[in-house]
Amino acid sequence: MQIVFAASECVPFAKTGGLADVVGALAPEMVKLGHEVTVYLPFYARVRRHIEGEPQFAARSITIPFQSYNRFVGIVDGGKRDGVRYYFVDCPELFDRQELYGTRTGDYPDNSERFGLFCRAVLESCKLLGVPDVFHIHDWQAAPIAIYLRTVYASDPALKSAAVVITIHNAGYQGSFPPTTTEQLLLPWDIFTMDKVEQFDHFNFLKGGLVYSDILTTVSKKYAEEIQTPEFGEQLDTVLRARAADLRGILNGVDYDKWDPSTDGNLAAHYSADDLTGKLSCRTDLLHAFGLEKIEDTSPVIGIVSRFATQKGFDLVQQIAGQLSDRDVAVVVLGSGEPIYEKFFRDWAFWHQGNVAVQIRYDDALAHKIEAGSDIFLMPSRYEPCGLNQIYSLKYGTVPVVRATGGLDDTIEEWNPERGTGTGFKFSVYEAPELLAAIDRALEAFKNRKSWQRLMLNGMARNYSWKQPAREYAAVYQEAANRRA
Ligand code: ADP
Ligand code: GLC
Repeated sequence: MQIVFAASECVPFAKTGGLADVVGALAPEMVKLGHEVTVYLPFYARVRRHIEGEPQFAARSITIPFQSYNRFVGIVDGGKRDGVRYYFVDCPELFDRQELYGTRTGDYPDNSERFGLFCRAVLESCKLLGVPDVFHIHDWQAAPIAIYLRTVYASDPALKSAAVVITIHNAGYQGSFPPTTTEQLLLPWDIFTMDKVEQFDHFNFLKGGLVYSDILTTVSKKYAEEIQTPEFGEQLDTVLRARAADLRGILNGVDYDKWDPSTDGNLAAHYSADDLTGKLSCRTDLLHAFGLEKIEDTSPVIGIVSRFATQKGFDLVQQIAGQLSDRDVAVVVLGSGEPIYEKFFRDWAFWHQGNVAVQIRYDDALAHKIEAGSDIFLMPSRYEPCGLNQIYSLKYGTVPVVRATGGLDDTIEEWNPERGTGTGFKFSVYEAPELLAAIDRALEAFKNRKSWQRLMLNGMARNYSWKQPAREYAAVYQEAANRRA
């Protein structure tokens, strides 16, 4: 089959979170299964940096109409990598910026136009360069593809038989804009109703995607159930329940070509389940990178790598911070995001310079070092559609402590010291003492080196490669295409 992926992120070109990892790894995996895959991304400033020399255009100028003006976009040919074709939608006035979605002061005010244009450009480009059997669209930024296809493009002979699969990577981000977005994107007002794109008097991109796509997927089985409830549905649970028969949970895989301690180029030493000795050098290297050289060998190192968003549960960490840093541990934190959490982590590190250290930024190499050099990895998320870091942690022999939600619950099994089974530590109720209790179980287990090693090896033996999920996506594409036919 021919598949077009449309997304706002994809490694190695542009990443703020796990979406980029998933798009960048699933696409080549689908090629391995014999499908033809094209990925469309906006041509952000940072994507340009991946192009050698002058950009080559597959299409020089495509007209995208707006109410009282046109924009003219180019389609940059990003060439083929691992069998995947990359096309970048070039519209410098909208995409040639430092960030993907906004700056520290807030979202870009023209995001509805930016991603509306991106979606329309993908459709127009496909008419020139190849219409797929299935559009696989990711998150709210690509959701207008489904809206356009089933409204203003519904009678287009070139596009009408193309199926659409939407993947929800995070229902907490919906792309909610003023009602006039309907006119801005040249869509008919009759779709601005509660059963279509309207949500609390706003034009909701994600909701439109959920209504108009043939099949809906999300990134773990647990999250597929959770988002149908008021607690996790982010107000879209009604729509999701209405489409429950078309909603599938497919757990993300991870890319072991990039995330494997036996080959990872970012590490001070390599190691594997057969020979763990290198992990000690990684720990020393990590403590050095964070200026915590004085930490004793017997103290466990707790790592965090994350976007600092409310989703990630750092308000719980804040509540236990004092108690945790008084224990015999080192804490290393890498991340950036909401100022309130940046300030909290900075302050925590300032007051506990002996054993807490934080680096506020995005740094891929350091993220790898933390996965390898830590003993425990902390993800107390309020909700987590899938989560990739805990899966990386398993492979790196770093024991996850997680909240039992979404993909965290699906991928981590509680350690049972009597039987020697399990891969980590979980807590369910979203309360600080529960988190502290889970960490304390981990710290207790760490004292017994022999059983701790068993726990590490249990995790390292788990396999979350893309092989199985890719097959599940292929089946979903087939089902969607059959329905259209
Ligand atoms: P989310 O997509 O919600 O942010 P995931 O766990 O799915 O959560 O994926 C996060 C990805 O982003 C991981 O690959 C992680 O290593 C990476 N990441 C997050 N914050 C940083 C950072 N500050 N520096 C480097 N990598 C980061
Ligand atoms: C989102 C989710 C995360 C998931 C990622 C990739 O950003 O927050 O849980 O792993 O998308 O699907």
